[in-house]
Amino acid sequence: MDKFLDVLSKEMGAAFERAGYAKELGKVTISNRPDLCEYQCNGAMAGAKQFHKAPMMIAQDVVKELEGSQVFEKVDFVAPGFLNLNVSGDLLKNYLNEMASDEKFGVPAPEKVRTIMIDYGGPNVAKPLHVGHLRSAVIGESVKRIARYMGHNVIGDIHLGDWGLQMGLIIAEVKLRQPDLVYFDETFNGEYPQEAPFTLSELEEIYPTASAKSKEDPAFKEEAMACTFKMQNGDPGYRALWKHIVSISVADLKKNYQNLNVEFDLWKGESDVHDVIPGMVSYMKENGYAHESEGALVVDVKEATDTKEIPPCMILKSDGASLYNTTDLATIMERMKEYHPDEMIYVVDKRQDLYFEQVFRCARKTKLVDENTSLKFLGFGTMNGKDGKPFKTRQGGVMRLSNLIADINEEMMKKILSGREMSEEEAANTSKVVALSALKYGDLSNQASKDYIFDIDRFTSFEGDTGPYLLYTVVRIKSILNRFAQEGGNLSSLACATYQNASEKNLMMQITLFNSMMEGAYEEIAPHRVCAYLYDLANAFNSFYHETKILSEEDEAKKSGWIALLSLTKEIAETCMDVLGFSAPERM
Ligand code: ARG
Repeated sequence: MDKFLDVLSKEMGAAFERAGYAKELGKVTISNRPDLCEYQCNGAMAGAKQFHKAPMMIAQDVVKELEGSQVFEKVDFVAPGFLNLNVSGDLLKNYLNEMASDEKFGVPAPEKVRTIMIDYGGPNVAKPLHVGHLRSAVIGESVKRIARYMGHNVIGDIHLGDWGLQMGLIIAEVKLRQPDLVYFDETFNGEYPQEAPFTLSELEEIYPTASAKSKEDPAFKEEAMACTFKMQNGDPGYRALWKHIVSISVADLKKNYQNLNVEFDLWKGESDVHDVIPGMVSYMKENGYAHESEGALVVDVKEATDTKEIPPCMILKSDGASLYNTTDLATIMERMKEYHPDEMIYVVDKRQDLYFEQVFRCARKTKLVDENTSLKFLGFGTMNGKDGKPFKTRQGGVMRLSNLIADINEEMMKKILSGREMSEEEAANTSKVVALSALKYGDLSNQASKDYIFDIDRFTSFEGDTGPYLLYTVVRIKSILNRFAQEGGNLSSLACATYQNASEKNLMMQITLFNSMMEGAYEEIAPHRVCAYLYDLANAFNSFYHETKILSEEDEAKKSGWIALLSLTKEIAETCMDVLGFSAPERM
């Protein structure tokens, strides 16, 4: 089915054509003077030059052609040649019913299904998740869901940081504490134990201790680097220990991401491309892409048009060790080989933009990616506290994500229990669901690249532009629909009717925008557009609801039209929530 504005533009274009003008002039947009009209067309002004005629004359001719239109219930023209339009109730009704019977409310299947890989999450093994990782997970998950809704083949990859110095630090610290462990015995050639020599909570203490120590004690740091080297280069005991660290940490990460309703298709990490690196390095050398510079191996990526200095991309350090760049480039190579993606989107802190510029240029120059595979960096801003500085705990430390989530759950629990009759258990479950919407909507409603302020009071409020307000709106609709069904109404065979009042018409017009909004959110990689739409939809619904007595309406035809409208509103709102990564409870 056509987008609603295209339906209007077609009608308008045909009128221009009948009046002797070009049909392209009939482009209809949403009115920027909603006090005067619902939609507008500026084609009469645009055509004046081409047709050597005053815009007002053109507009007048076009209006004449629209007499008796089934699409517009009102067409006016005003100086200097604007066409002001109101849409007909029948058209709206039919359009909504067509949307309702379409599985995706008029979002068409893509002409070509694209394979899109999304690199997001990016936690580092053995380091606790902190709020910096929240944005990547929340935004990436939504970007993934939007693209999937549009019908593409989308693969989300967590890209674990599991191969760096942090692993060597932990190994060095374990070695110091338990030097007799079999992992450090070079003569050992049996099976290593299944059981790890540490628990998760021990691991959580080991890393910060080791990290602090390495800053003060150069010998320890040296040792940690040596451990990293041994682990990366295949020492069996170190690899076995590494596996324990990864599996304990990944089990915990899985729990955390599950609580956030974030799901990855691939749990690959930097370590997965270790074996690919030597081949990639010789390929780069043999083809003359990489050269030595002060002992290191680099690829020049600067371009004549650069206005700022773009340093070369380092492939190997002078000691032959690989870097963050190396694993990212090797990952690109692997992804091309295994999945042939049309696009890779990286959802990472925007402070890494120069880094990704280097990596992308290097990947292009060395032809690791096909010419028509696009590489995109979706850099996000910082989550700040109310003081405008990066979010910290009350003590000024780095806030753990699990603590942040616990805080917001607790705040929500208080709000939900006050003034509501609900069992402790239901309240706890509901709080989790609502708190997640508060957290995610608070983030996603901002353009990703912008910094934003994490304001727990505002985010958990049931009023205003917040997750809980949107959930509350859906809960309200659900409860009306339930009551309608309890009173014997049949929810299955309903159809929207022609509008009865202005707020109803407004709600209907808002619904028509869903499919074009979704397409825009996909093309611009912009979950905030879904948020803005959902908020407008909720407001349109609530004004309609406050002005209309729905269940007590005696005219059955009117009532069933309204119920159909509510049910469509609910489905669309729930679809928006789903692509944003949260959902509404039954009651709240
Ligand atoms: N682990 C990295 C960090 O914490 C983020 C990884 C981003 N993704 C990537 N392909 N480099 O900064």
